[in-house]
Amino acid sequence: MRLVTTRSLKENDTLSKPVYHDNGNVLIQAGIPLSQRIINRLIKLGIGYVYIEDEMTKNIKVQNIVSDETRKAAITTIRKEFEEIANHQIIGNSLNTAHLSKNFSKVVESILADIKKSDDVISILSDVYCYDSYIFTHSLNVTIYTIGLAMELKFTEKQLFEIGLGAILHDVGKVLVPKEILEKNGRLTNEEFDIIKEHSRAGYDMLRNAPNISLLTAHCAFQHHERINGSGYPQGITGDKIHLYAKILAIADVFDAVTSNRVYRKAMLPHEALEILYAGAGTLFDKQIVELFSKTIAIYPNGLTVYLSDGRKGVVSRQNKFCGMRPFVLIFEHAGAKISPYEVDLAKEHHVTIIENETRLAVE
Ligand SMILES: [Fe+2]
Repeated sequence: MRLVTTRSLKENDTLSKPVYHDNGNVLIQAGIPLSQRIINRLIKLGIGYVYIEDEMTKNIKVQNIVSDETRKAAITTIRKEFEEIANHQIIGNSLNTAHLSKNFSKVVESILADIKKSDDVISILSDVYCYDSYIFTHSLNVTIYTIGLAMELKFTEKQLFEIGLGAILHDVGKVLVPKEILEKNGRLTNEEFDIIKEHSRAGYDMLRNAPNISLLTAHCAFQHHERINGSGYPQGITGDKIHLYAKILAIADVFDAVTSNRVYRKAMLPHEALEILYAGAGTLFDKQIVELFSKTIAIYPNGLTVYLSDGRKGVVSRQNKFCGMRPFVLIFEHAGAKISPYEVDLAKEHHVTIIENETRLAVE
């Protein structure tokens, strides 16, 4: 399968994975030739990239670090719990947080189990979701990246669970921010931004008062917008005053935010998002964690069309664990001429680099 932008889709292309709504229902089926009407719908839904079937790349598989079952259960729990908190707020009832830890613990445990089972790099571009509320998918994706990083940092079981729970609930305070501000299509005023900023402390207050949730888990919500140089919020603390959990979360949070489609801008690909993290390494983000993150994720996801520095062109076919910059590539073109396809391992060909990529071949 091949990763292409929805804008470059042609009539009769077929999706190799369905597009889901965030309530778990299938919006657009896989395997059925697309009509122009459906292509327009995909674009309108704000979906930037999709996987399509393609004869030459039919053996290229897309890694799914978390099973569809786990993903569906996670999204359902996040949606249900977050909506319940929001409703309490609207009605003015006192919030019962007793079930927060119980219900989210189950979800974090299944995500942990799935990630442990896999020995591949993390790639979640493959999960095609369309959402009413970005926050549900975002909370799950951030949890996956965070746990992946925490595992590489050799966290204990207790720590993995603690930070996993902190990650899935890091933005819980956002349920108290009015939707018009949260989903505003355009520049926020200072007042609006101040309201959004309150979500860190609101989440912290909620979690530190909830039974069976550790204070460190609550600090994930409190500190995930703090930055090493003190330019973050709500406290503007620096360096080591920011807990390690929050430093990890900050990276996972920003990475998912820029690689996700939002109404007001298109999603970046992983290597572009990584450039943003590297630009802030040492000032905004912990440098060592950024470096570790770049080894944990699929920088060039399977199915992506790439150009190599020696004039060859191909599609990313497999990943090299701990070497996300240098995946396997199925080469099918050299110096502009089609050649019989063969696979190359970029981890073994140090003289070539990926110089450019695109999500659809210009000439087919
Ligand atoms: Fe946040």
